[in-house]
Amino acid sequence: MFQLLKTEGKARRGVFTCAHGTVQTPVFMNVGTQGAIKGALSAADLKAIGCQVELSNTYHLHLRPGDRLVHDLGGLHRFMTWDGPILTDSGGFQVFSLASLRRIKEEGVYFASHIDGHKIFMGPEESMQIQSNLGSDICMAFDECIENPAPYDYVARSVDRTYRWLVRCKAENARLNALPDTVNPQQMLWGINQGGTYADLRIRHMQQIAELDLPGYAIGGLAVGESTQTMYDIIDAVEPYMPKDKTRYLMGVGTPSNIIEGVARGVDFFDCVMPARNARHAKLFTWEGAINLKNAKYERDMQPIDPACDCPVCRRYSRAYLRHLFKAEEMLAMRLSVMHNLYFYNKLMERIRQALDEGRFEEFRRTYSERLDRRI
Ligand code: GUN
Ligand code: ZN
Repeated sequence: MFQLLKTEGKARRGVFTCAHGTVQTPVFMNVGTQGAIKGALSAADLKAIGCQVELSNTYHLHLRPGDRLVHDLGGLHRFMTWDGPILTDSGGFQVFSLASLRRIKEEGVYFASHIDGHKIFMGPEESMQIQSNLGSDICMAFDECIENPAPYDYVARSVDRTYRWLVRCKAENARLNALPDTVNPQQMLWGINQGGTYADLRIRHMQQIAELDLPGYAIGGLAVGESTQTMYDIIDAVEPYMPKDKTRYLMGVGTPSNIIEGVARGVDFFDCVMPARNARHAKLFTWEGAINLKNAKYERDMQPIDPACDCPVCRRYSRAYLRHLFKAEEMLAMRLSVMHNLYFYNKLMERIRQALDEGRFEEFRRTYSERLDRRI
């Protein structure tokens, strides 16, 4: 259930409720693809960094350890000991980015596992069954995510198929939720808008999926090859056709500036591997811009990563020490850096919400949208 509290321009401040709690939006979801945040963060750490929603992947957990096993052990919440909201992505994106030997048919996708090459089939029903076994609060529709740019005719045919897949996802989700041994009978299905960089296809598809009256809608197929401006233009084109009383999720986006600009265009949910990935490469966010700790100028710098940050890492450790850990390839370098960057993202969302609450989001956007993405 989504309640819209306030708006400023197109930006929205809201509250989302599901079986495992309440989420203040706009929100950033912390990515734990295989049930753990890369960089050795546990479910206990997620609380410490201010995470509201954890995101895991159907494709990975189906291959290993297997969704049936997770089901039999009580579901993903219990397995990873995270009692807050979980969203699972459908496998649609991962099948297209990781698997090899793909063949797309009307019934679904045939592909080879990126782990051992064995042949697998996944269609809308399989994706829903896997996500039901995991017991996530939000399951995502099985879709085709196409790299941009792609030929108009291909995108048009793909979007029609993704629509037919969504109709099948909706029926299967309803059937699974009603089964007696379902992990989370209140699991909700969100649809995903596709259509590449073609505004007319995007709009037509959005109108079609809005009619299915799902509790949430995502914009997919962005940040996959197009320019930042094209991405913003597509969001601007689609947004008027997204139901106002449902949650909106921009998949796999992005930099702090992309997120601020997404909020300004009416998006409520975000996720991205970038803050954790950057952290593992010593690229750390601060409120003045991004720094690279491998830089020699930090060798004797006893300041925290960001003097303006109150995360558990910045309250204790220096840039000099972290730089040493990176140079020495100590695992602690990764862990502490990922903690800081994810804390920073969750804090960014908190400050966006605060600005919206106080009617000064536009001012916040002017101050931070460019500053946070620059390298200092
Ligand atoms: N993650 C980022 N983009 C996408 C997308 O288009 N579809 C899905 N399922 N996941 C995504
Ligand atoms: Zn910090």
